[in-house]
Amino acid sequence: MNAVVAYSSQTEFTKRYAEWIAEDLGCEAVSIDDEKRFDAGAFDVVVFGGWFHAASLVGGKWLRRAREEHPHAKFVAFAVGATPAEWADMVDEAMGREFPSPEFDGMPRFYLRGGFAYERLSMPNKLAMKLFFKMQEKQAATDPRAAEMLEGMRGGFDATDRAAVAPVVACARELACGEGTRV
Ligand SMILES: Cc1cc2nc3c(=O)[nH]c(=O)nc-3n(C[C@H](O)[C@H](O)[C@H](O)COP(=O)(O)O)c2cc1C
Repeated sequence: MNAVVAYSSQTEFTKRYAEWIAEDLGCEAVSIDDEKRFDAGAFDVVVFGGWFHAASLVGGKWLRRAREEHPHAKFVAFAVGATPAEWADMVDEAMGREFPSPEFDGMPRFYLRGGFAYERLSMPNKLAMKLFFKMQEKQAATDPRAAEMLEGMRGGFDATDRAAVAPVVACARELACGEGTRV
C-alpha cells in the first residue's frame, strides 16, 4: 500500500499509535519534524496523528498545509489526548474545534486516548502543567472529572491500547482501495 503515517509526538504515546498503525498497514511511520526523509506528496494515503495541547492539536498546521499542497492524496487523521474517550461531550467538542466544518468535512478522523508522562515533557510544558495542576486543584473540589484528570496526570498513566487502532487501519485500507473520493 502506498501509504505513510505522519505523526507529531512529544512523550511518545502518539508515536506508539503511529507505529502500530504503520505496522498493520505495512508502511512507515515518520515524524512530521523529519522533513528530509518525508514528502507527503509521494503517497496516496496519508494517516496523520497529532496530540492535544491545551485544547489545540499539535501538528494541525502541518495537516492543513499538507492537504493544500497535495490535493491528490487521501488523508485520515487521529488525535491523541489524556481525556478518556468515554467523555464524549469533551472529546466531540475538541475534535469539532480542531477539525472544523466545512474545511475538514469528509476527512475521516478518530480520537485515541494516550497517556501522561510528566518526566518526558519539555521544560516549557512542565511549567505549563504545574499551572494546570494548580487550576485543576480548585476545580477538582466541585468537578469529579477534573479530580480524576488531576489524579491521573499527577501519577502519570498509559492508556494506549493496541486494539484501538483497528478503525483507523480499516479506514486507511478502504481509502487505499479507492473507495470514496479525495477527502
Ligand atoms: C501542556 C499540555 C496540555 C495538554 N492539554 C490537553 C488537552 O487539552 N486535552 C487532552 O485531552 N490532553 C491534553 N494533554 C495531554 C496530552 O495530549 C497527552 O499526554 C498525549 O498522550 C501526549 O501525546 P504524546 O505522548 O504523543 O506527546 C496535554 C498535555 C500537556 C503537556
